[in-house]
Amino acid sequence: MAKVSIIGAGNVGATAADVIARAGYCREIVLLDIKPGLAEGKALDIGQTAPLFGFDTKVRGVTNDYKAIADSDVVVITSGKPRGPGMSRDDLVHVNAEIIKSVIEPAVFYAPNAIFLMVTNPLDTMTYYAYKLSKLPSQRIFGMAGVLDTARYRYFLAQELNASVQEIEAMLLGGHGDTMVPLPRYTTVAGIPVEHLIPSDRLQAIIERTKYGGGELTKLLGTSAWYAPGAAIAQMVASIILDQKRILPCSVYLNGPYDLHDIYIGVPAKIGRNGVEEIIQLALTEEEKRLLHISAEAVRSMNAILRF
Ligand code: NAI
Ligand code: 2OP
Repeated sequence: MAKVSIIGAGNVGATAADVIARAGYCREIVLLDIKPGLAEGKALDIGQTAPLFGFDTKVRGVTNDYKAIADSDVVVITSGKPRGPGMSRDDLVHVNAEIIKSVIEPAVFYAPNAIFLMVTNPLDTMTYYAYKLSKLPSQRIFGMAGVLDTARYRYFLAQELNASVQEIEAMLLGGHGDTMVPLPRYTTVAGIPVEHLIPSDRLQAIIERTKYGGGELTKLLGTSAWYAPGAAIAQMVASIILDQKRILPCSVYLNGPYDLHDIYIGVPAKIGRNGVEEIIQLALTEEEKRLLHISAEAVRSMNAILRF
């Protein structure tokens, strides 16, 4: 059975641990945090739900002890500052780059064969930065954002249609920011193109709400969201560990596909035991291409701040 380690036992990391533990397919989950006692406390609390939910996964918390992550199959990086109200994800770039720098080296040293799933914001830039620092093959290091963003989009569509979320399939491209590109042409409800079911002005309003979905929650909560991000991480971890080969929107390294070069950005990818097993090339309209390239420019300007 698999072992998953999560660096950063804050709201998002601990929620991911909770969801993954309940799923029952791991032998062990390690939570690691820099704040003394935090990971130990959260691990103990999650562990004590085991008799209630009936799982046998061991959940262990450690303070900065990277030896504990040895032999991990997957390492999830959620360490970093979240957004406060009025802050964009991009405001976090300098402080979180320092944190990524301090965690990526020991994480790769102790778990050199793991698949690395990045979560810290600004997501696409932090994933690129971690890729460069780690020197891992890009297939083994990628980021979570599109699964969360499409979950928000699908939720809003289900509400609008008063339909089951299970009927709604959606795809989305671009960076994890306000320039993300939800794709109505690739969104269906029980196989029916969504554009046949929702008038274009309402659909556009849902797309706009999706793009600012993280900001809406940050305004309400005073910090960024964690339930849906934690569940989105868990879906990606399951696809890796169980080799499900799901096609999910993820921040992956592109050097050619979509006419984009040397950048991490969200596109559909097949995720399995080897990480990114295939990048799926969608046929885009000129307008969709234009929006994707605008989003790529926004990611590039954020990457440029770090000068790597
Ligand atoms: P949080 O503040 O609740 O947790 C962050 C944790 O990281 C804290 O417990 C902190 O002690 C720990 N940490 C900081 N420096 C560390 C270091 N050097 N080593 C180990 N641990 C360290 O924040 P939250 O809400 O869990 O968010 C975490 C990150 O995830 C943020 O950057 C946030 O913006 C991002 N995020 C990304 C999403 C995505 O879709 N990619 C969705 C939601 C959040
Ligand atoms: C979110 O989308 C802030 O990235 C975080 O909730």
